[in-house]
Amino acid sequence: MTSRIKFFKEAVKNLKTLGTVTPSSRFLANRMLKEIDFSKVEVLVELGPGSGAITKHILNNLPPNATLICFEINETFYSQLLEIKHTQLIVIKSSAEKIEEELNKLGFSKTCHIISSLPLTIIPEVVSSEILDKSFQVLENGGTYIQFQYSLTYFKKLKTVFNKSISLDFEPLNLPPAFVYRCKKVV
Ligand SMILES: C[S@@+](CC[C@H](N)C(=O)[O-])C[C@H]1O[C@@H](n2cnc3c(N)ncnc32)[C@H](O)[C@@H]1O
Repeated sequence: MTSRIKFFKEAVKNLKTLGTVTPSSRFLANRMLKEIDFSKVEVLVELGPGSGAITKHILNNLPPNATLICFEINETFYSQLLEIKHTQLIVIKSSAEKIEEELNKLGFSKTCHIISSLPLTIIPEVVSSEILDKSFQVLENGGTYIQFQYSLTYFKKLKTVFNKSISLDFEPLNLPPAFVYRCKKVV
């Protein structure tokens, strides 16, 4: 079975937590990552990696001593991510609002970038607010929270959390086409 069909089957079973039926394209993955200076990355976090469509691109760019920490709640995707077996990859089966405590458990307190594919619009608002607040807290000053979405629904909310330090990008070569928000922590 191809990874696309596997993803589709998982999506049909879990529409309320996936928010899409197809993995992101390489064009969207590249657009998400294009402004990251990977030479300076030490710890990078990915929220909602799914079957690893963006994860693989992050790992290809990661410098030798850096670590990628992924948070995924779906059991099937979690198992698929474990199969990647990359020495710099840590996969945690936990919801994204646990970002701070899980990082602390691993001996880290901050991250320079958070790459998120979380379907914010279908996550209960109390949970998505906690995820965004905790993400802001664990980001280094000058670090970025990069999120894709298929609509502009969360633009205003992210603008509030990141004190207006946000820019908008768009990737047409994805199904569906997606907006990319780049939010910078400036304190
Ligand atoms: C739109 S899919 C994106 C998958 C992949 N990153 C891609 O771009 O193809 C969203 C992913 O977020 C995961 N997810 C949803 N809510 C989550 C949460 N609270 N914490 C961690 N992962 C979550 C889902 O299981 C799913 O794998």
